[in-house]
Amino acid sequence: MVLAWLTRMVASPPVTASSDSPGRTRSLGAALAAHLQPGDVVLVSGELGAGKTVLVQGMAAALGVVEPVTSPTFALLHEHQGTRLRLLHADAWRLSSPAEAVDLALAEEVGDGRTALVVEWGELAAAALPGDHLRILIEPGQGEEDRTLHLFLMGPSWEGRRDVLLAGLPTAGGPG
Ligand SMILES: Nc1ncnc2c1ncn2[C@@H]1O[C@H](COP(=O)(O)OP(=O)(O)OP(=O)(O)O)[C@@H](O)[C@H]1O
Ligand SMILES: [Mg+2]
Repeated sequence: MVLAWLTRMVASPPVTASSDSPGRTRSLGAALAAHLQPGDVVLVSGELGAGKTVLVQGMAAALGVVEPVTSPTFALLHEHQGTRLRLLHADAWRLSSPAEAVDLALAEEVGDGRTALVVEWGELAAAALPGDHLRILIEPGQGEEDRTLHLFLMGPSWEGRRDVLLAGLPTAGGPG
Protein backbone atom coordinates (compact mmCIF):
# COMPACT_ATOMS: atom_id res chain seq x y z
CA MET A 1 0.00 0.00 0.00
CA VAL A 2 1.35 3.39 -1.00
CA LEU A 3 0.86 4.99 2.42
CA ALA A 4 2.80 2.28 4.26
CA TRP A 5 5.56 2.42 1.66
CA LEU A 6 5.89 6.20 1.91
CA THR A 7 5.79 6.17 5.69
CA ARG A 8 8.68 3.70 5.79
CA MET A 9 10.64 5.71 3.24
CA VAL A 10 10.66 9.09 5.00
CA ALA A 11 12.11 9.78 8.39
CA SER A 12 9.59 12.34 9.59
CA PRO A 13 5.86 11.79 9.98
CA PRO A 14 3.48 13.24 7.42
CA VAL A 15 1.31 16.27 8.07
CA THR A 16 -2.27 15.10 7.74
CA ALA A 17 -5.46 16.95 6.90
CA SER A 18 -8.97 15.71 6.33
CA SER A 19 -11.58 16.73 3.83
CA ASP A 20 -15.29 16.00 3.69
CA SER A 21 -16.11 17.73 0.39
CA PRO A 22 -14.55 18.91 -2.88
CA GLY A 23 -14.81 22.47 -1.56
CA ARG A 24 -12.84 21.52 1.51
CA THR A 25 -10.13 19.92 -0.65
CA ARG A 26 -9.99 23.13 -2.72
CA SER A 27 -9.56 25.14 0.51
CA LEU A 28 -6.71 22.87 1.56
CA GLY A 29 -5.10 23.39 -1.85
CA ALA A 30 -5.47 27.14 -1.41
CA ALA A 31 -3.94 27.06 2.06
CA LEU A 32 -1.05 25.03 0.69
CA ALA A 33 -0.53 27.41 -2.23
CA ALA A 34 0.13 30.23 0.21
CA HIS A 35 3.37 28.45 1.11
CA LEU A 36 4.47 27.62 -2.43
CA GLN A 37 7.75 29.13 -3.59
CA PRO A 38 9.49 29.26 -6.97
CA GLY A 39 11.23 25.97 -7.68
CA ASP A 40 8.79 23.89 -5.64
CA VAL A 41 7.79 20.46 -6.87
CA VAL A 42 4.58 18.88 -5.56
CA LEU A 43 3.78 15.26 -6.41
CA VAL A 44 0.16 14.27 -5.87
CA SER A 45 -0.85 10.61 -5.58
CA GLY A 46 -4.16 8.85 -5.14
CA GLU A 47 -6.44 6.55 -7.05
CA LEU A 48 -8.65 7.60 -9.98
CA GLY A 49 -11.10 10.20 -8.75
CA ALA A 50 -9.29 10.70 -5.45
CA GLY A 51 -9.37 14.47 -5.89
CA LYS A 52 -5.91 15.27 -7.22
CA THR A 53 -7.21 17.71 -9.82
CA VAL A 54 -9.62 19.26 -7.30
CA LEU A 55 -6.66 19.94 -5.00
CA VAL A 56 -4.71 21.54 -7.87
CA GLN A 57 -7.76 23.67 -8.71
CA GLY A 58 -7.67 25.08 -5.19
CA MET A 59 -3.95 25.76 -5.44
CA ALA A 60 -4.33 27.48 -8.81
CA ALA A 61 -7.24 29.66 -7.70
CA ALA A 62 -5.28 30.87 -4.70
CA LEU A 63 -2.36 31.74 -6.98
CA GLY A 64 -4.68 33.95 -9.01
CA VAL A 65 -5.13 31.64 -11.99
CA VAL A 66 -8.38 32.60 -13.70
CA GLU A 67 -8.82 29.96 -16.41
CA PRO A 68 -10.32 26.54 -15.61
CA VAL A 69 -7.87 23.91 -14.36
CA THR A 70 -8.38 20.38 -15.71
CA SER A 71 -6.27 17.21 -15.86
CA PRO A 72 -3.59 17.67 -18.52
CA THR A 73 -4.77 14.58 -20.37
CA PHE A 74 -3.81 15.50 -23.91
CA ALA A 75 -1.25 18.27 -23.47
CA LEU A 76 0.77 16.38 -20.79
CA LEU A 77 1.60 19.76 -19.31
CA HIS A 78 -0.63 22.75 -18.62
CA GLU A 79 0.84 26.14 -17.88
CA HIS A 80 -1.11 28.57 -15.69
CA GLN A 81 0.08 32.07 -14.98
CA GLY A 82 -0.74 33.22 -11.48
CA THR A 83 -0.05 36.64 -10.03
CA ARG A 84 2.94 35.51 -7.98
CA LEU A 85 3.98 32.22 -9.59
CA ARG A 86 3.60 30.30 -12.81
CA LEU A 87 2.04 26.91 -12.10
CA LEU A 88 3.00 23.97 -14.31
CA HIS A 89 0.51 21.10 -14.02
CA ALA A 90 1.45 17.67 -15.33
CA ASP A 91 -0.18 14.24 -15.25
CA ALA A 92 2.43 11.49 -15.03
CA TRP A 93 -0.22 8.83 -15.76
CA ARG A 94 0.27 9.86 -19.38
CA LEU A 95 4.05 9.57 -19.31
CA SER A 96 5.38 6.33 -20.76
CA SER A 97 8.51 6.57 -18.58
CA PRO A 98 10.13 8.92 -16.07
CA ALA A 99 12.59 9.78 -18.83
CA GLU A 100 9.70 11.40 -20.61
CA ALA A 101 9.40 13.81 -17.71
CA VAL A 102 13.04 14.67 -18.20
CA ASP A 103 12.39 15.18 -21.91
CA LEU A 104 9.69 17.62 -20.98
CA ALA A 105 12.41 19.42 -19.03
CA LEU A 106 10.19 19.73 -16.02
CA ALA A 107 13.02 19.91 -13.56
CA GLU A 108 14.76 22.56 -15.64
CA GLU A 109 11.64 24.66 -16.20
CA VAL A 110 10.90 24.71 -12.53
CA GLY A 111 14.30 26.23 -11.87
CA ASP A 112 13.56 29.50 -13.65
CA GLY A 113 12.83 31.39 -10.44
CA ARG A 114 9.14 31.99 -11.10
CA THR A 115 7.61 28.55 -11.45
CA ALA A 116 6.21 25.77 -9.28
CA LEU A 117 5.38 22.32 -10.63
CA VAL A 118 2.57 20.03 -9.54
CA VAL A 119 2.38 16.50 -10.94
CA GLU A 120 -0.67 14.23 -10.67
CA TRP A 121 0.27 10.54 -10.34
CA GLY A 122 3.55 12.06 -9.19
CA GLU A 123 4.99 8.79 -7.93
CA LEU A 124 5.42 7.70 -11.55
CA ALA A 125 7.73 10.63 -12.33
CA ALA A 126 9.51 10.92 -8.98
CA ALA A 127 12.74 9.33 -10.19
CA ALA A 128 13.19 12.09 -12.78
CA LEU A 129 12.47 14.98 -10.42
CA PRO A 130 14.31 16.71 -7.58
CA GLY A 131 14.55 14.81 -4.29
CA ASP A 132 13.43 17.89 -2.36
CA HIS A 133 9.70 17.98 -2.93
CA LEU A 134 6.29 17.69 -1.31
CA ARG A 135 4.41 14.42 -1.75
CA ILE A 136 0.71 14.41 -1.15
CA LEU A 137 -1.26 11.18 -0.92
CA ILE A 138 -5.05 11.49 -1.07
CA GLU A 139 -6.81 8.51 0.48
CA PRO A 140 -10.54 7.83 0.39
CA GLY A 141 -12.36 7.59 3.71
CA GLN A 142 -15.59 6.01 4.96
CA GLY A 143 -18.07 8.49 3.51
CA GLU A 144 -18.29 9.06 -0.22
CA GLU A 145 -16.74 12.52 0.07
CA ASP A 146 -14.30 11.78 2.89
CA ARG A 147 -10.62 12.05 2.07
CA THR A 148 -7.44 12.10 4.11
CA LEU A 149 -4.50 14.06 2.75
CA HIS A 150 -1.05 12.95 3.88
CA LEU A 151 1.68 15.51 3.20
CA PHE A 152 5.18 14.00 3.16
CA LEU A 153 7.83 16.69 3.54
CA MET A 154 10.69 15.33 1.47
CA GLY A 155 13.91 17.26 1.92
CA PRO A 156 15.01 20.29 3.90
CA SER A 157 13.03 23.01 2.14
CA TRP A 158 9.74 21.27 2.91
CA GLU A 159 10.74 20.00 6.34
CA GLY A 160 11.51 23.65 7.15
CA ARG A 161 7.90 24.54 6.35
CA ARG A 162 6.34 21.96 8.72
CA ASP A 163 5.28 24.51 11.31
CA VAL A 164 3.71 26.94 8.86
CA LEU A 165 1.90 24.09 7.15
CA LEU A 166 0.56 22.82 10.46
CA ALA A 167 -0.61 26.34 11.28
CA GLY A 168 -1.94 27.05 7.80
CA LEU A 169 -3.92 23.87 7.18
CA PRO A 170 -6.62 24.26 9.81
CA THR A 171 -7.52 20.61 10.22
CA ALA A 172 -3.94 19.37 10.02
CA GLY A 173 -2.60 17.27 12.80
CA GLY A 174 -0.55 14.17 13.13
CA PRO A 175 2.38 13.37 15.35
CA GLY A 176 5.25 15.81 15.45
N1 LIG B 1 -13.45 15.48 -0.43
C1 LIG B 1 -13.31 15.51 -1.76
N2 LIG B 1 -12.21 16.07 -2.29
C2 LIG B 1 -12.03 16.09 -3.64
N3 LIG B 1 -12.89 15.58 -4.53
C3 LIG B 1 -14.01 15.01 -4.04
C4 LIG B 1 -14.27 14.95 -2.65
N4 LIG B 1 -15.46 14.33 -2.47
C5 LIG B 1 -15.92 14.03 -3.67
N5 LIG B 1 -15.07 14.42 -4.63
C6 LIG B 1 -15.29 14.21 -6.07
O1 LIG B 1 -14.29 13.32 -6.52
C7 LIG B 1 -13.90 13.67 -7.84
C8 LIG B 1 -12.42 13.98 -7.86
O2 LIG B 1 -12.06 14.18 -9.18
P1 LIG B 1 -10.61 14.58 -9.63
O3 LIG B 1 -10.67 14.80 -11.10
O4 LIG B 1 -10.09 15.68 -8.79
O5 LIG B 1 -9.80 13.24 -9.31
P2 LIG B 1 -8.32 12.87 -9.73
O6 LIG B 1 -7.69 12.30 -8.52
O7 LIG B 1 -7.67 14.04 -10.36
O8 LIG B 1 -8.56 11.71 -10.78
P3 LIG B 1 -7.68 11.26 -12.05
O9 LIG B 1 -6.74 10.21 -11.56
O10 LIG B 1 -8.67 10.69 -13.00
O11 LIG B 1 -6.97 12.47 -12.60
C9 LIG B 1 -14.74 14.89 -8.24
O12 LIG B 1 -15.87 14.45 -8.94
C10 LIG B 1 -15.13 15.48 -6.91
O13 LIG B 1 -16.34 16.19 -6.97
MG1 LIG C 1 -6.86 14.39 -12.23
